[in-house]
Amino acid sequence: MENLVESNNLADNELIKNSELIVLGLDKLNSKFSGKKILITGAAGFLGTQFIYYFYYLNKNNILDDPIEVYAWDNFIRGYPDWVKKFNNINGFHIEKKDIINDSNFPEVNFIIHAASIASPIFYRKYPIETIFSNITGLKNILDYSVNNRIVESILFFSTSEIYGDPDNKNIPTKETYRGNVSCTGPRACYDESKRLGETICVNYSKQFDVPVKIARPFNNYGPALKITDRRVIPDFFRNIINNENIVLLSDGKATRTFCYISDAIEGYLRILLSNFNGESFNIGNESPEISMLELARLSIKISKKPLKVVYNKSSDKEYLSDNPQRRCPNIDKAKTLLNYKTKINLEDGLIRTYEYYLRNNKTKEL
Ligand SMILES: NC(=O)c1ccc[n+]([C@@H]2O[C@H](COP(=O)([O-])OP(=O)(O)OC[C@H]3O[C@@H](n4cnc5c(N)ncnc54)[C@H](O)[C@@H]3O)[C@@H](O)[C@H]2O)c1
Repeated sequence: MENLVESNNLADNELIKNSELIVLGLDKLNSKFSGKKILITGAAGFLGTQFIYYFYYLNKNNILDDPIEVYAWDNFIRGYPDWVKKFNNINGFHIEKKDIINDSNFPEVNFIIHAASIASPIFYRKYPIETIFSNITGLKNILDYSVNNRIVESILFFSTSEIYGDPDNKNIPTKETYRGNVSCTGPRACYDESKRLGETICVNYSKQFDVPVKIARPFNNYGPALKITDRRVIPDFFRNIINNENIVLLSDGKATRTFCYISDAIEGYLRILLSNFNGESFNIGNESPEISMLELARLSIKISKKPLKVVYNKSSDKEYLSDNPQRRCPNIDKAKTLLNYKTKINLEDGLIRTYEYYLRNNKTKEL
């Protein structure tokens, strides 16, 4: 087996370090994967990539009694990450170009992680129909397979914090019980509404067919493997910094978010997958700090130690800010209480790790 850590590829090292954190965080829960087969859809994406490295880390370090077998599917609509070529030669990993909307020829697996759906607003708005049907038809294909193949022990559907839309102040921090304030026809609706219907589909397959599906609602994850060209806010800011440009805010900078570092987020998702809470949704993210985009830009500059400023501009895209939530901050009591979930990496540490990754991984021509 190729040893990625010794391959002198420092990008691998960051993902390996995060995998170690996930393994430590999950502790005895890791063993539930012993000898299991796992399908990850959207495996080439930001979260998918870290899942792949976590499973690789388990096998490589003989953490389990029996190794895992991983099926990694992606249609590569957002490009081929570098790791794909390397993992093709690693025992137990099957990387395949598959579109979850059209391909329901599933391998026999015990766990399914359905992460196929473009997450960056700029890109899901470019591919709205593909986004809708990854979350609806793709999800249905997975659930139908699981109705007929009881070997599937658990399924994780990736929903989003965007199902809450733009909550009023009294619903922030936002609990899972909040019903949302969402447009069904606005520019973000392809994403928000397909995730909302996706959740409805999961709840009803769970009730009607006893399918063991659970739902994660991620709140703004960041870290290594999130491409610098992805057009989410943290890579946007670091792209400016790495190019020695002032950070360009395309808004008034007042909207707020909380951010969750990738290793904390993946640990949360795996805790959901390994639980028995079928048909349930969980917020996964950080409760604090709730930080404005202006403060985030200033913190990113401070971390880089470069003499840069924050400047304001308008996006050429008229709908860039339409339906953009003013505040986003989760209440994660449900995950804390039922899943024993807690985050460990604070924002500044996470940003430092991410900046170091971007210093070495800054191909600005990626899809
Ligand atoms: N990262 C976050 O902060 C965040 C926040 C909210 C929700 N989510 C959800 O988590 C999941 C993963 O997010 P991410 O950040 O890794 O997204 P990403 O955009 O980085 O990756 C998504 C991957 O899915 C693939 N894909 C898209 N449509 C597909 C299809 N029909 N068949 C096969 N592959 C397909 C893309 O090629 C891409 O590699 C998504 O469902 C996303 O909506 C993520």
